[in-house]
Amino acid sequence: MKIIPIPKDTAFSDRCVEVKKTVTYIDSSLEKEEYILKICENGTINISAGSESGIFYAKQTIKQLKKEYGSSLPVCIIRDKPDFEYRAFMLDCARHMFPVDEIKKLIDAMAFLKLNKFHWHLTDDQGWRIESEKYPKLNTVAAVRKHSDFGKNFEEGPYGRVYTKNELTQIVSYCKERFIEVIPEFDIPGHTSALLAAFPELACGNKEVEVKTHQGIFKDVICPAKEESIDTVLKIFDEICEIFPSEYIHIGGDETPSKQWESCPECQALMQKLGIKDYHEYQNFFMNKVIAHLSEKGKTCIVWNDAAKGKNLDSRAVMHYWKENDKATLYFANGGGKLILSPFSYYYTDYDYDITPLNRTVSFNPMLKGLNSKESILGLEVPIWTEYISDNERLEKMLFPRAIAVAQTAWGGNVDYHHFLMKFNSCKDILEEMGIQLGDVWLWKNKRTAMPVGWLKFLKRNYSLDYIKNQLK
Ligand code: ACM
Ligand code: ZN
Repeated sequence: MKIIPIPKDTAFSDRCVEVKKTVTYIDSSLEKEEYILKICENGTINISAGSESGIFYAKQTIKQLKKEYGSSLPVCIIRDKPDFEYRAFMLDCARHMFPVDEIKKLIDAMAFLKLNKFHWHLTDDQGWRIESEKYPKLNTVAAVRKHSDFGKNFEEGPYGRVYTKNELTQIVSYCKERFIEVIPEFDIPGHTSALLAAFPELACGNKEVEVKTHQGIFKDVICPAKEESIDTVLKIFDEICEIFPSEYIHIGGDETPSKQWESCPECQALMQKLGIKDYHEYQNFFMNKVIAHLSEKGKTCIVWNDAAKGKNLDSRAVMHYWKENDKATLYFANGGGKLILSPFSYYYTDYDYDITPLNRTVSFNPMLKGLNSKESILGLEVPIWTEYISDNERLEKMLFPRAIAVAQTAWGGNVDYHHFLMKFNSCKDILEEMGIQLGDVWLWKNKRTAMPVGWLKFLKRNYSLDYIKNQLK
């Protein structure tokens, strides 16, 4: 049979039966997402599962069986459970927004692939997307950039708005019905130009900042030395928590230049008072205040692995690995910290297929070199950044089929590329029936084993050569 993610254990007979009815049970001896699916000779399908989510996943498996076999299904037993408890996709709606209906379509596809987390990147330099009652300037100033200048796509005129509370909670409910938790991200203390455009008093020296119109890493970051900064940030997080009841919350922490802190008398005085000499530690001093506050509210914070560089990050946070071959991240994990893996050169789906072909995404082995235990890995996540993606068609074609590969590794473990291709036809056909447009076959079948020149050229456009060399070490 052709099922993706590949189930853990299957026993199939040659006999096929017309399905008459489906009976479901909760069996508390099974793990939460585990299910046992039996197609019996009398045409009954029996599903037992550890919880309702397991029943939901069994039904996704049945969809693929029906696609392959038609109405008459083979008498069989399938026992299945995920490798990782955290199986996520990420959508950046700060750079480009996508309609609620399109997001729902993606959620349906991801639920079908047995993913269970939606990391929603809602704030960045180029726009703020969470409606606020406490801070209306977030809705009016932070949400709008004056034009968009992303590479070859220049768009005149103002762009952006917030998703309303109604839209945000609609997505939360839609996900909940499909056993997906929505994890909002408010990225701090960098990637905050949009926030600072609304509240310049939170920047070092109250510097006027504009919502950015192009891609980049910007030096406009929050001033951690001001009482007002932490106070405002925590109040915004409180409001975000009211909308999103998730266990996890993403607090960013990536790409935070220290330039403003270096020339800010308040930052310098605070660093001296705290005895902090290193800007990574100074960043984490601020992150830790947020982590402490959100932990008290029962949340688990997720932080991009740039924050591993300061060795003082609160160990209650989960580290989100995107920068590869990072010794500081291994140090964090081997010391007992948990990781979510989104290695950029395998899992970032905004990279073209000639840079990251499907076989590369399939080939990622979560057991990182230097990691002592698989137990340190909470799970995997497939992100899509949208500086260069503004329409639904491109969004879908970049995400699929690579998201299928990540779902396979997250639920069913690593498989060889040919094995993956042999198994995924039913899954692909069903996604197409759901209205998902997959990337062109000739593009993603382009196999790459060595580092191509094109890939290096691409990276050079976006990162410094030193940075790339460091990544490739
Ligand atoms: C990232 O790609 N800046 C997390
Ligand atoms: Zn400062």
